[in-house]
Formats: sequence, structure tokens, C-alpha cells
Amino acid sequence: MSFAIRPCTIADAALLDGWEPPQGEWDHLHWLMTQQRNPLTRTFIGEHVNVPVCFGRLTEQSSFIDIGWFVAPHLRGMGYGLQLAYALRELATKPLHATIHTENLASEAVAKRLGMKPLKGDGPEFASELDYCEGLRTWLEVPSA
Ligand SMILES: CC(C)(COP(=O)(O)OP(=O)(O)OC[C@H]1O[C@@H](n2cnc3c(N)ncnc32)[C@H](O)[C@@H]1OP(=O)(O)O)[C@@H](O)C(=O)NCCC(=O)NCCS
Repeated sequence: MSFAIRPCTIADAALLDGWEPPQGEWDHLHWLMTQQRNPLTRTFIGEHVNVPVCFGRLTEQSSFIDIGWFVAPHLRGMGYGLQLAYALRELATKPLHATIHTENLASEAVAKRLGMKPLKGDGPEFASELDYCEGLRTWLEVPSA
């Protein structure tokens, strides 16, 4: 199979720094160490023919699983985001939840492909205080009828 996901480790910090350069004191090494201390979070690297192309995250909550996706900037619009999302979906045991900026059309398109629907309004419904800022919308997976 040409696309596959594998667990992300702290050895991937430099890869992630290359995709999204660190700002100030924040960097991916410390961020990944924090993620890995959280037993409810799983992080992944998506690879195309063994070359890393994207990063994904699943965080378990009580009634849903929060999903996150990120494709290397120079490789966007080539289908990797969708392949990553489908691969993460396979691992999720509860309905998916995502918080997406209303201007992030690519991310909204991925959410729609997963069968997710926006909650009404632009609200911070279910968005964590950390994530919350104006313009975010909560998306939830709706089981198909
Ligand atoms: C969001 C993201 C993961 C999508 O990955 P991608 O590889 O670029 O997207 P894909 O090529 O798989 O396309 C997925 C869908 O998005 C659509 N899309 C892709 N780029 C788009 C753009 N710039 N504007 C609008 N739609 C776009 C595609 O048409 C496709 O939808 P369709 O299947 O209905 O036609 C990627 O753009 C990204 O990493 N963005 C920055 C990080 C981010 O925003 N993460 C999400 C935070 S909530």
C-alpha cells in the first residue's frame, strides 16, 4: 500500500519543526513530549511510499474522539489529508469531533468527507478553552442513516 500511518515519536520532532517552524520557545519536541504523557492522545505520521507527508492526532474524550490533521505545506491539495483522515477514522471507536476555523475550507472539506457536520452557529460548543477563539466551529460525525 502506498499510503500508511505509523505512530509519531519524539524522533519526529525535527520533521514537524521543518513543516511548521517553531516560534519563540515553543517547539515540537516539547509539544510531542506533552502529547505522549497524555494516555488519551495518540499521534501519527502518514507516509507515502515510506516518505513522511503528514501528521495526525486522535484524542479520546468521554463521548467522542477529537481528530486533528496536518499535511506538509508543500504537499497540500494532493489527497494526503483525505487519506490520513480515512486512516485515522479506522482507528476511532467513538464518533469524531473536530474544531475547525470557518475560513479553513480544506479542513472543512475533509470533515465533510468523513461524514461530519457542523454544529449550528460559529460557537465554541465543545471547543476546549485552549482551542477557543473567534471563528472556530465544532464539527461532529453523524452516523449515516
Ligand atoms: C486541511 C489539510 C489537512 C487538508 O489536507 P490536503 O492534503 O491539503 O487535502 P486533500 O488534498 O486531501 O483534499 C481534501 C479536500 O479538501 C479540498 N481542498 C484541498 N485544498 C483546498 C483548498 N485550498 N481550498 C478548498 N478546498 C480544498 C479538496 O478538494 C478535497 O475535497 P473534495 O474531496 O471534496 O474535493 C491541509 O490543508 C493542512 O494541513 N492544512 C493546515 C493544517 C490545518 O488546517 N489543520 C486542520 C486544523 S482544524
